[in-house]
Amino acid sequence: MTLTCDFSSRTVLVTGAGQGIGEAIAAYFHAAGARVAVADWDGDVLARTWGAPSERMLPVVLDVADPDAVTRGIDSVVDRFGSIDVVVNNAGIARDAVVWKMTDDQWRSVLDVHLGGTFHVTRAAIPHMRAAGFGRIVNVTSFTGMHGNVGQSNYAAAKGGIIGFTKSVAKETARFGITANAISPNAATAMVAAIPEEQLAAMTATVPMGRFAEPSEMAAAVAFLASDEAGYITGAVVPVDGGVSM
Ligand SMILES: NC(=O)c1ccc[n+]([C@@H]2O[C@H](COP(=O)([O-])OP(=O)(O)OC[C@H]3O[C@@H](n4cnc5c(N)ncnc54)[C@H](O)[C@@H]3O)[C@@H](O)[C@H]2O)c1
Repeated sequence: MTLTCDFSSRTVLVTGAGQGIGEAIAAYFHAAGARVAVADWDGDVLARTWGAPSERMLPVVLDVADPDAVTRGIDSVVDRFGSIDVVVNNAGIARDAVVWKMTDDQWRSVLDVHLGGTFHVTRAAIPHMRAAGFGRIVNVTSFTGMHGNVGQSNYAAAKGGIIGFTKSVAKETARFGITANAISPNAATAMVAAIPEEQLAAMTATVPMGRFAEPSEMAAAVAFLASDEAGYITGAVVPVDGGVSM
């Protein structure tokens, strides 16, 4: 059997595709021939990164925390490309504070974007995947979702929730030819640049590879999980983290 990175028969939606890991994942799928819908709530970032719509690229400005916007966004992708075969739930924010200082807004916004957004996009995409008898859902969790982190109880709760959500969706959809998996990344992006220098140096020291990855290094793992060949892998959490979770 020949392994293929050919996604020319597939439509892929990536959330948080304006920059960072999402941009790199979407760029990989686009280079592999997919029709790509790049979704982000920041229309300016999206326009700067991706420019005007083209034959195989549709920018979609939406907030994943808004269920109606997500439904409209998914419908627009299916209208434009005729299918939605792969969704990558990558959009994310951080609103850090120790738990006794955390505001309701910090708590809710992080849960709404990460966990709510992953739920909204997955729920809206599955009927189309079921109709096609094929689907790949790739969620983005985090080391913090498994191990916790100071100042990130909201983020840890959301990312831990994504793992349980992924496994439940995997069990519910396996019989329809749909898989649901997650990656746990570690890449130098704006989110990481916002970490204070000393804390970042301490974090880097814990990575066996001795560095944060380039965002592009996340994309091949996602593409593999989205491939036809990975059809027997579901409910998995794949660390793409330089060994930090060992
Ligand atoms: N960078 C890392 O090392 C790392 C580690 C673990 C997990 N993650 C996760 O990877 C994902 C991507 O992170 P990143 O480092 O590329 O971050 P980033 O801040 O560089 O990019 C996040 C993108 O998501 C978009 N976004 C945020 N909220 C949104 C919303 N409500 N609706 C639509 N788009 C929204 C932003 O506009 C931005 O373009 C996130 O889920 C993050 O939690 C990253």
